[in-house]
Amino acid sequence: MYDLIRKKRDGESLGYEELKFFIDGYVAGTIPDYQAAAFLMAVFIRGMTLEETVMLTQCMRESGEQLDLSEIPGIKVDKHSTGGVGDKTSIALAPIVAAAGIPVAKMSGRGLGHTGGTIDKLESIPGFRAELSTEEFLKSVKRTGIAITGQTGNIAPGDKKLYALRDVTATVDNISLIASSIMSKKLAAGADRILLDVKVGNGAFMKKKKEALALARVMVDIGNSSGKRTMAILSDMNQPLGNAVGNALEVREAVATLRGEGPEDFYCLCRELGAAMLMLGEKVQDLKQGRDMVDHLVSAGKAASKFEEFVKSQGGDPDVLERPDRVLPKAKQQVTVCAEQNGYITSLNAESIGISAMLLGAGRAKKDDVIDPAVGVVMHKKCGMQVTKGEPVATLFVNKRDNLEKAEQLIRDAILVAEQPPQKSEMILGVVE
Ligand code: URA
Repeated sequence: MYDLIRKKRDGESLGYEELKFFIDGYVAGTIPDYQAAAFLMAVFIRGMTLEETVMLTQCMRESGEQLDLSEIPGIKVDKHSTGGVGDKTSIALAPIVAAAGIPVAKMSGRGLGHTGGTIDKLESIPGFRAELSTEEFLKSVKRTGIAITGQTGNIAPGDKKLYALRDVTATVDNISLIASSIMSKKLAAGADRILLDVKVGNGAFMKKKKEALALARVMVDIGNSSGKRTMAILSDMNQPLGNAVGNALEVREAVATLRGEGPEDFYCLCRELGAAMLMLGEKVQDLKQGRDMVDHLVSAGKAASKFEEFVKSQGGDPDVLERPDRVLPKAKQQVTVCAEQNGYITSLNAESIGISAMLLGAGRAKKDDVIDPAVGVVMHKKCGMQVTKGEPVATLFVNKRDNLEKAEQLIRDAILVAEQPPQKSEMILGVVE
């Protein structure tokens, strides 16, 4: 290990056997944290070539179980988001593409910090079981064409251990390390094709488009060189996605979207990602045909029916589609934040809004915090909209008043109003194939 650290420190490239030695030794505990930390810092400063990044991904992918989805007929297309605020996309998107006949076997995560997780959101549906065994997971996909679970089995333990170390050694935000971390898990999850939703903006890992493009490029290259066709879409995260931030509130919004009544920006993203997944799954020839098919699946009610089937198959109350107000947990109190002046909203800082929701109990500051499914924030105005002084801009859904003042202040600070309207921002910022 000493030699590997020295080589990386001096800017040399490492081979597959060397990276394998590192990952396997670190997982087995024969390489201590202090050597792994020194190695990570050398990688952080010196960087890795694409070849090394592909090999590191492969080693982490091989460090644990790899799911075999071959018993499920059809082209399995997976989707991954790099994480944002109000990102309930998988909840609407998975039933849309499953309704087109693409099998969805999706592993999702829980939320941490200002970003939420699909599993927490789904668990706000009473009865919904999001922790399936591998057997139950595969059975569910075969039966209904769709299943979403937390991580089954021991997927990429090399990444899990390394990510925890990166978190405390200031080595998270390196493109090779992020790309190999995400792709090792995606590749081990067994799908045939991968679509990446790479978020750009103040609520995302990548604040600038240039960095997001570089990350997307590396992840797409890793996927393709591992034999899985991969595509990335860059999407805006300078304001929350849709209006709702918080678990049950987001499920309600995803349900509304499946009924054709969702916020415009959220539907726009679902439509674009859906079109790309339909193309990767060879259901359509191009994105234009894909968008038309998504519109049809939603307007004909097929995506909504698939959602109902999916919720039922994982033990949740399927009435959430028709009567979300009856089924989903509700907060005790609502607090409104109003515009302090006339003008146009020029900025809604997604990170601050995410932290505000977290303080209300919708998210976790630490991994083992318990979340409250009912609480969160709903925005009534988005960037570019006109407001008058005193008009409601956001509602906080509250159960405990402990952090209410801080949460309210964060929302107030997140909202910028100016006399002139801002330039129109685009939801889709690029595509990498
Ligand atoms: N998400 C991951 O899984 N890994 C990273 O390194 C960053 C985000």
